[in-house]
Amino acid sequence: MSVHYTQSLVADSQTQKTHKTRKTHKTRKTQKTQKTQKTHKTRKTHKTHKTHKTHKTHKTHKTHKTHKTCKTQKTQKTQKTHKTRKTHKTHKTHKTHKTHKTHNIPTIYIITPTYGRPAHMADMTRLASTLMLVKNIKWIVAEDGDNYNPFIKDLLEHSGIPFVYVLAKMPVKYRATNNEPRGVAGRLAGLQWVREHYAEGVVYFADDDNSYDIRIFEEMRWTHGVSMWPVGLVTALGVSTPILQDGKWIDWYDGWIAKRKYAVDMAGFAVSVKLLNEVSTANLLVRASLRIDSLPLSLYVSRNAVGSPVCECNKVYVWHTQTRVKHTVTVHTLEKSKYDSTNLRELWKFMV
Ligand code: UGA
Ligand code: MN
Repeated sequence: MSVHYTQSLVADSQTQKTHKTRKTHKTRKTQKTQKTQKTHKTRKTHKTHKTHKTHKTHKTHKTHKTHKTCKTQKTQKTQKTHKTRKTHKTHKTHKTHKTHKTHNIPTIYIITPTYGRPAHMADMTRLASTLMLVKNIKWIVAEDGDNYNPFIKDLLEHSGIPFVYVLAKMPVKYRATNNEPRGVAGRLAGLQWVREHYAEGVVYFADDDNSYDIRIFEEMRWTHGVSMWPVGLVTALGVSTPILQDGKWIDWYDGWIAKRKYAVDMAGFAVSVKLLNEVSTANLLVRASLRIDSLPLSLYVSRNAVGSPVCECNKVYVWHTQTRVKHTVTVHTLEKSKYDSTNLRELWKFMV
């Protein structure tokens, strides 16, 4: 199935009703849709995993409490955040998502464009593991391809993170170009989904290959209008960030301009759903260069929207990393018939 710049719902885990993970997996095997998926039992099942013991251990760490640097510069809102993080500690991961719903803290809609390549599962696994630690989120994953990836579906279901999985394929005319708009179809599909379904909360674009300190999600959670922060490892110039002087936001800086009018890394901002819905024309701009302009800065400039950097922007909590695959994956070994009916054929599917 091919969906261009629109999306199909595969699974909206928040709307799922009953309680049978295993059934879910079976369901997938029998190629039924995920609509029958049952989130809550997934969570129950998770409780039996050792993962949670790890979380328990984690609880004894002082990690979150010791990060006072930022706290001291923060508003009340952020303190709230830390409080909720405390709550988080007292619950097991999957309960946490549940718990947070009752806590009336903003939901972060995390839009992740993704596509098939050898590091696909590796990147998505790492990101899922990060997002499992973040409360009150909805993960909108947009697959750039003709089909849903069953391994991604499995990962999403198993994570316990409320998610939506949609198809958003890059138009063929762009694919053939040198500067193809990577991830733009997925981001647009995600924005459309948010606009159609939600009135409040915060939107963030999280590419699947970046590296996230979970503190960044608490920084952005109380975004009203637009917020920005530094992103590390962007081009040789190192960083993309708002520029502050004497505590005031005076400009922004990006190591990679690429003909963009509003150059800022896609990982360096969040927008409130309210603002997004107010400015119905606000979108990522696909310019002649096929590079995209920043949604928040266009909003900020065009609407004089409430915008602010978070914290003092003197720390990096998100990194524009890339996964380099050491060896080219080839089908060579799999051609040998001796591997028929072995696990090797199954494993291969994870690499492509
Ligand atoms: C990225 C993107 O190319 C730009 O769209 C973005 O403006 C820029 O970074 C930024 O952050 O400002 P890069 O990191 O080199 O550059 O690109 P990728 O990580 O390969 O792709 C970005 C996202 O789009 C990833 O989540 C990736 O999985 C997805 N993607 C990439 C697709 O969905 N389809 C593709 O064909 C390629
Ligand atoms: Mn990337």
